[in-house]
Amino acid sequence: MTITGISGTPLDPRSPQAQAIADLFVDTLILCGIIFAIVTMLVGYAVFRFRAKKDEKTPPPQIEGNTRLEIGWTVAPLVVLVVIFGLTMRAASSSDPPPDREPDLTVIAHQWWWEVKYKSGVVTANEIHIPTNKALVVGIETADVIHDFWVPDLARKIDAVPGRSSAIWMQASAPGAYTGACAEYCGAQHAWMRILVIAESPEEYAAWEQKMLARPATPTEEAAVRGEKSFQAMTCVRCHAVGQAGGAANAAEPGPRAGPDLSHLAARQTLGAGVAKNTPDELARWLKHPQEIKPGSHMPDLQLTDAQVKDLVAYFGSLK
Ligand code: CUA
Repeated sequence: MTITGISGTPLDPRSPQAQAIADLFVDTLILCGIIFAIVTMLVGYAVFRFRAKKDEKTPPPQIEGNTRLEIGWTVAPLVVLVVIFGLTMRAASSSDPPPDREPDLTVIAHQWWWEVKYKSGVVTANEIHIPTNKALVVGIETADVIHDFWVPDLARKIDAVPGRSSAIWMQASAPGAYTGACAEYCGAQHAWMRILVIAESPEEYAAWEQKMLARPATPTEEAAVRGEKSFQAMTCVRCHAVGQAGGAANAAEPGPRAGPDLSHLAARQTLGAGVAKNTPDELARWLKHPQEIKPGSHMPDLQLTDAQVKDLVAYFGSLK
């Protein structure tokens, strides 16, 4: 499963929650279409039926205050609004989780990437794995400004507001890769806050979770060993954690990190929240020129030599 751009649409829902929203859209569209047709017909009828006859010089008799009509066009819109209100409440109750349910995973928006933390202790970034046909509650938070989390195939849009915790349902009816994006302008790299949701069978999901919970293997290949050394010696470790998922090891280093957890970077499909494919070549390009690829991002250009880049690529490649 690979990403091929943003493919999601709320009109082709792949979850019961997104279906409820799509149904609301279609129901409202039909209702509005009927009203549009009635109004157009009445206006058309009035234009032709009551137009000025030939040689008619005097204006028609002026009338006002037809009580039956007044009541009619007050009650009719009221009924329409009550119906739409009812439909909206129904869609909202099936697309939003109960407020007291603890999230199964929490997504924390950053300028410009998504941190993903599961209740199980898994920490990853920009790529969310879920088992199919299971409704999960996803908590939505932000570490800096307002962002908006949106995976149109699967769930409603939701703002990530500083100081607030929100939650949505996330469920997928079929296995697949579902793409999403940040939907609230949040600065220079707003366009590169892509989300990839990978829905897989419960067995595949469990295997993924186990792999993520395990500490990455210590590199053995020479270049990778050198890469790990320079990763630890340079400022990388101040922003990026490796091998601390699972909780316990994190106790020594509390507080959020500024950059994505890299414990299992090699298992992810993209770099820089979707800006590049996660291949050795692209990773090398990213390490060498992050500010050319994602200008304004907090990933600094460390002026790495080609040899250092090669070692780091070997190291990150070992973090499966
Ligand atoms: Cu984050 Cu736009």
